[in-house]
Amino acid sequence: MNAISLDRVTKSYGSTVALADATFHVASGGVHALLGENGAGKSTLVKILSGIVQPDSGTIRLFDVEVRLAGRSASASAGIETAFQEVPLVPDLTVADNLLMPNQPRKFGLFLDGRVARAQVEQIRNDLRIDDIDPRSLVRELDLSQRQKVEIARAIARRPRILILDEPTAALSRSGVEWLGDRIADLKKQGTTILLVTHRMPEVHEFCSDMSILRNGRHVGSFGVGAIPDDEVFRHIMGRSVDVSFPPPPEKVSRPAAAPLIETRGLVVGRQLRGVDLVLNPGEIVGVAALQGMGQLELFNSLFGAERIDKGDIFVSGKAGHFGSPADAIRAGIALVPEDRKIQGLALQRTGIENTTLPIVEDYSRLGIMDRRREAAEVDAAFASVNLHPRALYQTPAEFSGGNQQKIVLAKWLLTQCRALLVFDPTRGVDVGTKHEIYTLLRRFADEGGGILFHSTELPELIGTCDRILVLYRGRFVAEIPYGTANEETIGALMLGATNGPDRKVA
Ligand SMILES: Nc1ncnc2c1ncn2[C@@H]1O[C@H](COP(=O)(O)OP(=O)(O)OP(=O)(O)O)[C@@H](O)[C@H]1O
Ligand SMILES: [Mg+2]
Repeated sequence: MNAISLDRVTKSYGSTVALADATFHVASGGVHALLGENGAGKSTLVKILSGIVQPDSGTIRLFDVEVRLAGRSASASAGIETAFQEVPLVPDLTVADNLLMPNQPRKFGLFLDGRVARAQVEQIRNDLRIDDIDPRSLVRELDLSQRQKVEIARAIARRPRILILDEPTAALSRSGVEWLGDRIADLKKQGTTILLVTHRMPEVHEFCSDMSILRNGRHVGSFGVGAIPDDEVFRHIMGRSVDVSFPPPPEKVSRPAAAPLIETRGLVVGRQLRGVDLVLNPGEIVGVAALQGMGQLELFNSLFGAERIDKGDIFVSGKAGHFGSPADAIRAGIALVPEDRKIQGLALQRTGIENTTLPIVEDYSRLGIMDRRREAAEVDAAFASVNLHPRALYQTPAEFSGGNQQKIVLAKWLLTQCRALLVFDPTRGVDVGTKHEIYTLLRRFADEGGGILFHSTELPELIGTCDRILVLYRGRFVAEIPYGTANEETIGALMLGATNGPDRKVA
């Protein structure tokens, strides 16, 4: 039996066709991957199945029964629960409230029944093994990975027959991904059908039995996992063959001795950063490898003037830099691609063009008159360099797909004249065809004399692109690994605090 059957499902937004005659089936009890490049229509399909978006035409059957999913509650009654890509939790409520929403237990149908609610939350925490998050914390206080975990737990806790996960691992930490793997295994045993949207092939191999691929809103094929090689999968996803390699290793060029772009001495931020010495030279990509919450967020934010420093010094091109705010950092030539693009990266009311030129908008104005033509032309070129469709020029972030939001933030900094680029997980949610181009752009930026501090939750991309990797453990750098001298296991061990790894050299 099929859990989900889609027949010619179509959805347009104005002139954008997000889904075009999508027709495919998801077998009951399987874990089915939904693949496609950024903007292919994956989240649109997820929203249709969740009852949030109505298709223009087409039919949907769940377990062989035709359904009309007129709203979220209709979808829930039909047995579907979804963990969304852009986590919609309510930031000012507690974790416990978010887990139970919108079905909090009530006395006489009116007052919240606190005792029952607490018991239910305890049950969920035990069943789903989320003992690392305090149910009394406000969601606002959680980091992105924890929020994602609560969002996933909220969906699983309703015991759906069909669970939809839209890029659940994009924001999860390493341990979070393992946690999700265990939950998927449990659900499989119980016969739950899972639809998993992802850009990561290793997850498809690990978790999924089948896959369906969308391109430009069209279904281009469904396959058993392992039935075709990955490069063929990529070809279906992108409509062309895809280069998944890393740019060639950095050449050893001798540069005239220049002051480091950024240097820190004894940097302390709260209890998160406990004395960090860092040197970022022109021409370098320096990796920061760390497990969740080892101080990387504080390091990047403080270098960008977005976090107060308790002790220590920052020098920018040899001069003491004291940043009261990100505006100071931008003036000093430092840019940040932040972890949470929704909160820090994008202005939600503005178009793609306006978002991209926000830091340098004065450059396009002479005597108070904006040169809109030149602005649009330059943004257009920047978009092309990250494979972003020109229609994003005039859209607002609410209309972008998840991965395209990330591409806008990158395009924005490529246009500025910044010299030091701080990139925090820049390929999160970015499709397989564009990752390689982002690595190439980063390398070119460095070759032209810029410097990049690069944090990623995906170790292979640090190993493949960085001139050297610094391992951050509990707020201190514990090792420095030059290009080509270590593999995932050795770096992974250092990230866990191993003290006698090979190649260990304290920075
Ligand atoms: N509310 C909206 N208004 C206008 N256009 C939209 C809206 N939502 C989505 N789109 C457009 O529909 C297309 C498909 O978007 P969708 O979010 O489904 O992509 P996706 O496959 O989930 O991509 P990603 O991997 O980046 O998350 C994109 O071109 C997007 O810009
Ligand atoms: Mg999406």
